[in-house]
Amino acid sequence: MPSLLIDHIGRLATPAGAAPARGPDLARVDVIEDAAIAIVDGKIAAAGPREQVLAGHGDLPLHDAEGRAAIPGLVDCHTHAVFGGDRAGEFDLRAQGAGYEQIHAAGGGIAASVAATRAAAADGLLPGILERHLGWMAAGGTTIAEVKSGYGLDRDAELAMLRAAAAPHAIEVSPTFLGAHAVGPEWDDADAYLDFVIEDVLPEASALAEAADVFLERGAFDRAQAGRYLRAAAAHGLALRMHADQFSEAGGIDLAVELGARSVDHLEATGPAASSGVAAVLLPACMVTLDLPRPPARDLADRGAIVALATDFNPGSAFCQSLPVVMSLACTLLRMSPAEALVASTVNPAWVLERHDRVGRVAPGYDGDVVLLDADDWRHVAYHLGGPVVSAVFKGGRRL
Ligand code: NIG
Ligand code: FE
Repeated sequence: MPSLLIDHIGRLATPAGAAPARGPDLARVDVIEDAAIAIVDGKIAAAGPREQVLAGHGDLPLHDAEGRAAIPGLVDCHTHAVFGGDRAGEFDLRAQGAGYEQIHAAGGGIAASVAATRAAAADGLLPGILERHLGWMAAGGTTIAEVKSGYGLDRDAELAMLRAAAAPHAIEVSPTFLGAHAVGPEWDDADAYLDFVIEDVLPEASALAEAADVFLERGAFDRAQAGRYLRAAAAHGLALRMHADQFSEAGGIDLAVELGARSVDHLEATGPAASSGVAAVLLPACMVTLDLPRPPARDLADRGAIVALATDFNPGSAFCQSLPVVMSLACTLLRMSPAEALVASTVNPAWVLERHDRVGRVAPGYDGDVVLLDADDWRHVAYHLGGPVVSAVFKGGRRL
């Protein structure tokens, strides 16, 4: 692993609190002016005022930040980044008034991506497609991404998606088995489909994935079905995630708490919510794309919930791979502060992905994952809406 001294950092901003950060810690960011970061064998050896860092590590290969701001590598804990085809036609239809659930019910939506993904899997194209998407994500400062299956819905394509995700990449990927994203098109009964998933796909999927996820929603899976699938996944050693309260409240939060899930994601249809040990993963790019109500971000944060942000990058509801754009939307539409948005895009998603002991902060002992911004004030990461705000990205001390 490489060693590197990143010197002349105008401002270094890093979450201050322990993971998961909640309550006052959600807004606690340490900002150090005139800073440097020493990375030795891929790990941060020292970070802080430059005189202190240079005293012990002045002989490392140098990268001159020329006054730019630095933040930790961003962690995207919810993406569907491997899929065949695109849904630009559906985007066009929705712009003209068609509803997302209506398109889904008429056989478009997820089903269209399933057909395209199966075809791409059969042609061996999924690894290349994922690599391209991960490149887009890295360009926006993402150094770790969760990647879900869920556009295969049969044994071969689900496993091909997971194998693509589990292979080595320039950035780190955490694969999630979303076998319960929708009922496979060959099946007319959701329970029979789930039996197949649990008996014929989960045993091999659990060797490739770190977590399992389910879409608990009208038109997808109900609470009992989601519980059955997640309990089976837990028995195979997987961490639990859940898509819930996107369009309707269906008991997802209670189920997640009961099962000890790591997170509940979406929550656009959630009323005032209480704090729990389950992270609330908010997906403002999906909210904007589908023009959904806003999730109760302020309420969650003020009540001490573990709040994380993610892109939900997928071909239908959020064709957006940029965490800086998501952070910007969180500040303008969800009334989170830039500090909260930074914590919710670093340490808290690192906690969701069970990597908080080594990523999400710029501090000694953590991985050398650092983003330099093309600005001297770190808040530009959220302030510059859609701008070319990322100047350089380092993963384990290696420039991407
Ligand atoms: O997180 N809600 C379910 N799944 C995805 C969208 C899938 C799609 O439209 O292809 C989501 O929004
Ligand atoms: Fe999603």
